[in-house]
Amino acid sequence: MKQFDTELHKLKNKKLLRKLTCIKASHGSKISIDGQSYIDFSSNDYLALSNHPGIVRAAAAALTKYGFGSGASRLLSGTYLPHVKLEERIVKFKKTEAALVFNTGYAANTGIIPVIAGADAVIFSDELNHASIVDGVRLSKADVKVYRHRDVNYLESLLKKSLDRKTTRRRLVITDTVFSMDGDIAPLKDLLSLCDRYDAVLMIDDAHGTGVLGKTGRGGLEHFGIRADNIIQMGTLSKAAGCYGAFVAGNKDLIELLINRARSFIYSTSLPPAVCEAGIKAIDIIDKRSTRSRERLWKNRGRLYDGLENMGFDTLDSETPIIPILTGDVKKALKIGRYLYENKIFSPAIRPPTVPEGKCRIRFTVTAGHTDEEIDLVLEVLKKY
Ligand SMILES: Cc1ncc(COP(=O)(O)O)c(C=O)c1O
Repeated sequence: MKQFDTELHKLKNKKLLRKLTCIKASHGSKISIDGQSYIDFSSNDYLALSNHPGIVRAAAAALTKYGFGSGASRLLSGTYLPHVKLEERIVKFKKTEAALVFNTGYAANTGIIPVIAGADAVIFSDELNHASIVDGVRLSKADVKVYRHRDVNYLESLLKKSLDRKTTRRRLVITDTVFSMDGDIAPLKDLLSLCDRYDAVLMIDDAHGTGVLGKTGRGGLEHFGIRADNIIQMGTLSKAAGCYGAFVAGNKDLIELLINRARSFIYSTSLPPAVCEAGIKAIDIIDKRSTRSRERLWKNRGRLYDGLENMGFDTLDSETPIIPILTGDVKKALKIGRYLYENKIFSPAIRPPTVPEGKCRIRFTVTAGHTDEEIDLVLEVLKKY
C-alpha cells in the first residue's frame, strides 16, 4: 500500500529500517542462522537457563498434563494451578505479601501503571526507562515529569514543585533497576528516600535485575539491601529466568486491585500452564542453585568489560552484563554490527527509537554460558576492526 511504502522508504533512507533474523537452532551461547553458527551476544538469557534440562522437563510434564493453550483469560477459566503456584513461588522469592503474573513484561507495565496512577496523578519517570513503561505512562493519562537519567537532585526539584499545587495528587516514581540499553543501575536507595520524603510511591522494573543482581539473585532491592514492603516490584521471567512471562510483587491490596482493573491482565488469554511450570522451576533454580552461574556471569562480564575498556570503547556507565559500545552515528553502528556478523558474532546495531538519536550502539549482553574463548574472540575481532 502506498502510504506504508512511503513510510518504509523514509525509514530506509534514514538507515532505520529493521529486518528480522531467523534463528534455526540455539544452544547456550551458540545460535544457527542460515546454516552458520554464531556466538550470541544479544540475548538476555543471563544465567543460560533457557536450555536447562530441568526447566524443559517441567514444561514437558505440564504439556502432557494440561495441553498447550490455557483457553481463556485469568478471570474466566484461564487460572490453572500452575498460575497460582507460580505466584506463590514469586511471593517467596521476592519476599512480598502477594504477586500477580502477567503474560509479558510489556503487558505488565502497560497494565499496572494506569491502575496505580490515574489521570489525577503525577508520574516521575527516568528518561531512559523502558518503552513499556513509557507506554504504560501514556495510557495512564497522568501528568508526566520525565527526569534526567538517574539524576536524584533533578528528581527532587520536580517532586518539590509538585508539592506547590494545592490539590493532593498521587505521586509515583518509576524506574528500571538495570537500564536495558545502558546497563547501569538506578540509585534505588536515594529514590526510595526521596519517595518517603515527598510522599510518593516507588515502582521498579526489575526485568534485568531479577536473577542477576543481589547475592541470591533476588534483584535490585537485594543489591542495595533494601527491605520495603511498599515498593511495587515488577519483574520478568523472560530474561535471567530463561522462560517467558512477567509479574508484579507487592502488597495484597495492590494485587487485588490489579486483578480487577489491569486491562492487559483482564482482557488477555492467560499464559499456557506449561510456561508457568517452567517459570516455577526457573525460580527454584535461581533461588537455590544459581550462585555458581551468577559468579560465572559476573566473571564473564568483567572479562568483556575490561577488554572493551582497555581498547578505549565508550561503554557508557555500564555496571552489569549489559555492556554497550557507543558509536553515536547510525552508519557506524551498522558497520560494526555487520563486521561482527561477518566474524560469526551476533550483536546487531541498536538504533532509534530503541535509543535516542545520536546514541546508536552495539549492545553486548554477556551470559554465564559464554566461554573465556568466546569472549576473547569478540575482543580479538574488535581489535582488528
Ligand atoms: C526494562 C524492561 N522492562 C520490560 C521489558 C519487557 O519485557 P518482556 O520482554 O517480557 O515483554 C523489557 C524487555 O525487553 C525490559 O528490558
